[in-house]
Amino acid sequence: MASMLMCFLVFFGATLAAGFSDAQPKPVPGLSYTFYKSTCPKLESIISKQLKKEFKKDIGLAAGLLRLHFHDCFVQGCDASVLLDGSASGPSEQDALPNLTLRPAAFKAINDLRALINKKCGVVVSCADVVAVAARDSVALSGGPNYKVPLGRRDGLTFATQNVTLADLPPPTSNVSFLINTLNKLNLTITDLVTLSGGHTIGLAHCTSFTNRLYQTQDTNMDKTFAKNLKLTCPAANTTNTTVNDIRTPNTFDNKYYVDLMNRQGLFTSDQGLYSDSRTKSLVLKFALNQTQFFEQFALSMVKMGQLSVLTGSKGEIRTNCSARNSGSGLWSVLEPLVETASTF
Ligand code: HEM
Ligand SMILES: *[C@@H]1O[C@H](CO)[C@@H](O)[C@H](O)[C@H]1NC(C)=O
Ligand SMILES: *[C@@H]1O[C@H](CO)[C@@H](O)[C@H](O)[C@H]1NC(C)=O
Ligand SMILES: *[C@@H]1O[C@H](CO)[C@@H](O)[C@H](O)[C@H]1NC(C)=O
Ligand SMILES: *[C@@H]1O[C@H](CO)[C@@H](O)[C@H](O)[C@H]1NC(C)=O
Ligand SMILES: *[C@@H]1O[C@H](CO)[C@@H](O)[C@H](O)[C@H]1NC(C)=O
Ligand SMILES: *[C@@H]1O[C@H](CO)[C@@H](O)[C@H](O)[C@H]1NC(C)=O
Ligand SMILES: *[C@@H]1O[C@H](CO)[C@@H](O)[C@H](O)[C@H]1NC(C)=O
Ligand SMILES: *[C@@H]1O[C@H](CO)[C@@H](O)[C@H](O)[C@H]1NC(C)=O
Repeated sequence: MASMLMCFLVFFGATLAAGFSDAQPKPVPGLSYTFYKSTCPKLESIISKQLKKEFKKDIGLAAGLLRLHFHDCFVQGCDASVLLDGSASGPSEQDALPNLTLRPAAFKAINDLRALINKKCGVVVSCADVVAVAARDSVALSGGPNYKVPLGRRDGLTFATQNVTLADLPPPTSNVSFLINTLNKLNLTITDLVTLSGGHTIGLAHCTSFTNRLYQTQDTNMDKTFAKNLKLTCPAANTTNTTVNDIRTPNTFDNKYYVDLMNRQGLFTSDQGLYSDSRTKSLVLKFALNQTQFFEQFALSMVKMGQLSVLTGSKGEIRTNCSARNSGSGLWSVLEPLVETASTF
């Protein structure tokens, strides 16, 4: 039954995407919808086939992969720097703040995909593109829209420090003004903010991400029964327990996140604020009432987020191992694009 529902949702998502393909956004210079058509034609089926298998074992991985793409793009652009060992949120620093609790399984899944793709196509696909496609499949295979992803990103040579990472990712305690400003710096709009926050329709959060709303004083903007139950899961501010982001349909990508907000059952200050602030409330209502409108906008906002400060052409590199820079990449890879640009004149 559940898998039938999943099939239906995926099919529906696919037709939906076909339905608004006319409105498919124009990729930024250097990216295209057909980038690997000749060099790795099976890329997208390799990824979706593998993820379908993995999600059957652990649907939570979908949330992990979606969030990984978000963190990658918000911190120095979608260049897979988040995957590098040594990155402030990367796999080797998981016990140093701010690892921001990215799932280790998501890093592993990207490296597993990397190995499969290298075997079939050689080292031609960037890790940043694998992350972007995996995020799309995570959405689509969880019941959300199935949109086309512009490809051709290159992998960055430098990882983000703790400071940069902290400065680029807004905390869950953020108010709406702060969120609007943060996204505005990335050329993302208020609509993008409300829409992308809908990613919280799947996945988990640790108590520490929202206990500011339970202790010492309780946030009056939270439903009392909801708060009471959260206190059972999080009896103290420092417990390591987790809870679901969307209490209605925790593993399905749908518009129930917005219904939660209307019922004051949003988990983070940054979530619930979207229903209190006059600049964002009407959009929350619109998405809660019409899932199609949420899906259409989510596809657009994801494509936009997925193209933030991308490296293209001969910038960066194609990593063989997503967790490490290619050996020997250093000054030369940084200088090469400059030389190439100069020679085109
Ligand atoms: C707008 C600002 C955002 C804030 C403040 C925020 C904050 C957070 C926090 C604190 C968590 C829980 C981490 C934990 O306690 O383990 C979380 C989880 C998550 N976020 Fe966001 N987030 C934001 C935007 C986004 C965006 C744009 C997406 C994707 C489109 C996204 C997707 C997710 C997902 C899927 C999870 C669950 C991850 C898992 O289960 O492993 N978030 N977010
Ligand atoms: C992230 O770091 C915090 C604080 O050091 C730690 O408690 C948490 O377990 C880490 N998360 C992961 C997923 O390793
Ligand atoms: C990081 O931020 C801290 C606190 O703001 C500051 O003291 C430190 O110098 C910064 N480090 C770097 C490398 O920018
Ligand atoms: C929103 O948060 C920012 C940063 O924490 C703070 O400076 C500002 O005063 C807050 N605005 C409101 C209206 O609470
Ligand atoms: C935002 O847009 C401006 C003007 O088009 C551009 O210069 C800037 O690089 C963009 N910022 C990002 C992060 O994409
Ligand atoms: C949460 O953690 C506490 C210990 O910190 C534990 O006693 C409690 O049973 C946990 N609750 C749930 C719902 O997991
Ligand atoms: C949480 O804090 C309490 C009181 O300070 C302490 O007794 C307990 O060991 C802490 N629990 C964890 C999981 O850190
Ligand atoms: C929801 O939005 C879609 C797309 O804009 C529209 O075609 C449809 O009629 C709307 N559904 C309802 C129930 O309003
Ligand atoms: C990839 O790089 C990481 C970090 O340097 C290393 O730990 C790992 O063993 C490498 N994986 C492979 C398959 O070489």
